[in-house]
Amino acid sequence: MSGSRDDGGRRRGAKVRAASRPSGRGLKVRVRTGKGRSVSSTRWLERQLNDPYVAEAQARGYRSRAAFKLLQLDDRFGFLKSARRVVDLGAAPGGWLQVARQRCRPEAVIVGIDLQPVQAVADALVIEGDFLDEAAQAQLSDALGGPADLVLSDMAAPATGHTKTDHLRVMALVEEAADFAERTLAPGGTFVAKVLQGGTEHELLARLKRRFAKIHHAKPEASRSGSAEMYLVATGYRGPEADPATSGGP
Ligand SMILES: C[S@@+](CC[C@H](N)C(=O)[O-])C[C@H]1O[C@@H](n2cnc3c(N)ncnc32)[C@H](O)[C@@H]1O
Repeated sequence: MSGSRDDGGRRRGAKVRAASRPSGRGLKVRVRTGKGRSVSSTRWLERQLNDPYVAEAQARGYRSRAAFKLLQLDDRFGFLKSARRVVDLGAAPGGWLQVARQRCRPEAVIVGIDLQPVQAVADALVIEGDFLDEAAQAQLSDALGGPADLVLSDMAAPATGHTKTDHLRVMALVEEAADFAERTLAPGGTFVAKVLQGGTEHELLARLKRRFAKIHHAKPEASRSGSAEMYLVATGYRGPEADPATSGGP
């Protein structure tokens, strides 16, 4: 676990609300296929160089362009300001942790986990490990010190290029994150998870609908239009007791 100052943390407490959109667009940069560079890596580099969110993330000290996705989701749903205990699943390189730290109250406990090491974010705890391990989940709960108000998951398994396999792997992570959220959230809590278009699996969605007051699917502007990702935002956790399918109720 770790926790020290960083550039994103420095803004915490600032009166100015972190803007969630890039301020402008530069001239389009073209990249020639150079020595030893494949067509696909040339395209990737061109896209990076022309992506206003990549430039804006660098300018503002965010570690990922993904930071803007959380800013935009929070602009719409407003779950960060009042959260006192927050979990960030799939936290590397730390963009969402930086945003959570900026927008949550100073006393909020923020705990992240990733398979990859995450450079310290001021006043946030990070566990390096596999979220799918029971021991890692227990460590997360211990570090939180009480029920969570917000469980975030931006976890993504490395893409295989095989659409069906990738879909199944992402959805397996979402299901595990949903199970964890249901065990960890306080009543009224919020669960936010990256899913793939084509939607959340029917069974999982039906279960979440019984256990949360509202379910939304959102595609923040910062999420590339060509990508199949979108975010599930489930608000108003009712607890498992509210689910007649498991509580034995009517
Ligand atoms: C898209 S990145 C997250 C970006 C992050 N939200 C940010 O703003 O910096 C997805 C992350 O999920 C992590 N991940 C995937 N499977 C995981 C697992 N089983 N346990 C922990 N982390 C996992 C990956 O290592 C990767 O760093």
